[in-house]
Amino acid sequence: MSSVMSDTQTRNVRVDAVFALAPVIPVLTIINLDDALPLARALASNGLPVLEITLRTSCALEAIALITRELPGACVGAGTVLSGKDLDAVAAAGARFAISPGATDTLYREAAANPVPLIPGIATASELMRGLEHGWQRFKFFPAESSGGIAALRGLGSPFANVRFCPTGGIDVAKAPAYLALSNVACVGGSWMVPAAALAARDWTRIGDLAREASALTR
Ligand code: 3PG
Repeated sequence: MSSVMSDTQTRNVRVDAVFALAPVIPVLTIINLDDALPLARALASNGLPVLEITLRTSCALEAIALITRELPGACVGAGTVLSGKDLDAVAAAGARFAISPGATDTLYREAAANPVPLIPGIATASELMRGLEHGWQRFKFFPAESSGGIAALRGLGSPFANVRFCPTGGIDVAKAPAYLALSNVACVGGSWMVPAAALAARDWTRIGDLAREASALTR
């Protein structure tokens, strides 16, 4: 029991340190490796240093390694982590954290043995309880808007007072403040500050402006 508690506390401290860096974690899907550094710079230099790079493209691991190496002020993590194999790969690429859309008993066991802290996705009380059983108290609430949004998070607050969330999925700059006002929300995730058209046009100024606006959100 005491070793489970101590693992839990260690994970909480490491994840809370990431959550504390910014109110918003941009969720990035990088198709062209050439975009990785200018995109990361536009976000980090405008107040969003925590970056979730999803493992949905062939260059995602290279992008994690590149940004980690070239932009020490950024805190680069991996998203769409689905397996222990993914965790090993993102650890090798230098990721500081990993985020999964959901979690299985297998993933929890593999994450417990991996040096990269996992922020597992949950959408229900039962999924959350499974995470608690494995020693986790920090979660992605996903997909936030379609899983009940603010009301669901408020409802989870009373029975699970020690739990903190990063809700993600369907959140934008207008919706974020109400999430950030909840006592069990540490930060929110989203892709709204990187509109597809701005990324295609490599409009780093536009993305930087949206990042600055997001970074000014209070919690
Ligand atoms: C994702 O995993 O794609 C994130 O939840 C991003 O969600 P959003 O695009 O709705 O912000």
